[in-house]
Amino acid sequence: MKSFLNVQDLGDLRQALAEAQEIKQDRFKYVEMGKNKTALLVFFNNSLRTRLSTQKAALNLGMNVIVLDVNAGAWKLETEHGVIMDGDKSEHLLEAIPVMASYCDVIGIRSFAGLTDRDYDYSETVYNQFVKYSGKPVFAMETATVHPLQAFADLITIEENWKNSQQRPKVVLTWAPHPKSLPQAVPNSFAEWMNAADVDFVITHPEGYELDPRFVGNVRVEYNQTKAFEGADFIYAKNWSCPGVTCPDKYGHILQDYHTMMDWTVSARQMAVTNNGHFMHCLPVRRGMIVTDEVIEGPDSLVIPEAANREISATVVLKRILQSL
Ligand code: CP
Repeated sequence: MKSFLNVQDLGDLRQALAEAQEIKQDRFKYVEMGKNKTALLVFFNNSLRTRLSTQKAALNLGMNVIVLDVNAGAWKLETEHGVIMDGDKSEHLLEAIPVMASYCDVIGIRSFAGLTDRDYDYSETVYNQFVKYSGKPVFAMETATVHPLQAFADLITIEENWKNSQQRPKVVLTWAPHPKSLPQAVPNSFAEWMNAADVDFVITHPEGYELDPRFVGNVRVEYNQTKAFEGADFIYAKNWSCPGVTCPDKYGHILQDYHTMMDWTVSARQMAVTNNGHFMHCLPVRRGMIVTDEVIEGPDSLVIPEAANREISATVVLKRILQSL
């Protein structure tokens, strides 16, 4: 695997899920595979889970790990082509990428959407520059439009917590309020992976927050959150800003004052209409905005096992990359 951005990059999903369980039984089973190989993890944005779980995954495979925080000690990097570099950015990504690549065998990239230029974000400009100029396998640790390591961990978590083999689980992705403008990477990937998985999938959000069709396909979108929650087995909450699908001039905007949207916060009231549904969120989460304390601390909350499964999803992905070297 030379690039990991979308669900198709992993091939057969059932096989990948089986590999996840194999690794969970013995995290160090493939510890010889990464001997004398180096993973470089490049962060343009903050992270807790991705930083720790991906490092742990590389260590599980016996790799060396280098972590670069671009905004904490490295030269500020210019990412646009054809600009006169008379500002505060001292180095261009086009030199920095091959230099970084010369020190490693695999590169992970975290680079969020700027949320001002939809075409720039949705063409995955930064990630694709790493693919083009590094000559090394590259994997997404949340890019402008996708977060596949998270979606894979989410799917592992759903599979582990669904006990009825006779029936597909009903999984609902719900928008929830947030005071800041957030990217669409997590909901995009969650939708893409749920569509590829064997689940009954529904998305609910206020009008205007329609996700990009390349990720949602023909999935049912329900604007009434309560109706969407009825009989659900898994509720996946996330905020996202306007994807600019139905209103291109509003790309990256918050469409309404969040104070007026607080009835979308996931609380016991909404969970009551589910099928004793589990609550999920990728974290970090703002309590009182996305979800109430009662729900996230309740017995049906999966946020901690979900985060723990990030180590497993990253180990499978790095293993696949090492096998392709
Ligand atoms: N869920 C997730 O990617 O968390 P971090 O932003 O902390 O890495």
